[in-house]
Amino acid sequence: MAITFKPLHPLLAAEASGVDLSKPLSPALAKEVVAGMDQYAVLVFRGQKLDEDQQIAYAKQFGPLDLGLRKIRKGQPHRFKYDELADISNVKVDGTLAERDSSKIVSNIANQLWHSDSSFQKPAARYSMLHSVVIPAKGGETEFADLRAAYDALPEDLRQDIAGLEAEHHALYSRLMMGDTGYTEEQMKAIPPAVWPLVRTHAGSKRKLLFVGIHATHIIGMTVPEGRMLLMDLLEHATQRQFVYQHHWQVGDLVMWDNRAVLHRGRRFDLSERREMRRATTEDVEGSLENAA
Ligand code: OGA
Ligand code: MN
Repeated sequence: MAITFKPLHPLLAAEASGVDLSKPLSPALAKEVVAGMDQYAVLVFRGQKLDEDQQIAYAKQFGPLDLGLRKIRKGQPHRFKYDELADISNVKVDGTLAERDSSKIVSNIANQLWHSDSSFQKPAARYSMLHSVVIPAKGGETEFADLRAAYDALPEDLRQDIAGLEAEHHALYSRLMMGDTGYTEEQMKAIPPAVWPLVRTHAGSKRKLLFVGIHATHIIGMTVPEGRMLLMDLLEHATQRQFVYQHHWQVGDLVMWDNRAVLHRGRRFDLSERREMRRATTEDVEGSLENAA
């Protein structure tokens, strides 16, 4: 059996069909997925009914799993069997809708800012695998911006200006920006900031990319306002419509993206409607299933 990839956009994203993600992949199929990810950076698998165990088992085939922001809420109760599943929903532990002013909703809204998952830590995230369980009637799409195409399209003088520059990323910057200031000193320090070059090479395709996103707080060696303004300019460049694929969810979709190659953001939806997704994420570490080539 081979996977079929049908491109969904001129630059990135493809629908992958011919594979049942609830069963273990053969090594050959796993390599096809990795090769598809290296090329398209976003793969959409439709009609996958995965329970929590199956989603975790699928994700683990691509490397060790990331805990992300759960490190800041260690030991706090959540809805899932696994700490490694992120609850991307507007629903509380008791199954009712979260209050509009809760941290849970701030997190939903912070996810509507362009970001790369866990870019605030080392290792950061490689693959995110988001599975939709309940979707709202309207809105709540997810968008992906192609950072390799964004680098390719940078004017030469800007390429020279940013060569060698590095940005620091912090786990709670996006939450603070959205007005959630209720974090303790200890929580603020739970995930030390991570520094990444603005220009990186994608390990799977050897293409250069522009690594920006909302977790980046400042540029090393620049004043905060100068660095922030440059980061904002670069983010604006990277997220122009021609670089963006917008995903319209159906229940049962599993969308897998490469955090090294794309930024993503959720889109607004009516918070009084339920939107329930679960995400498993691999760490970007050596020894994970590497490029098939
Ligand atoms: C995520 C995320 C956006 C969305 O799951 O990491 O940012 O549309 N999701 O829910
Ligand atoms: Mn995310």
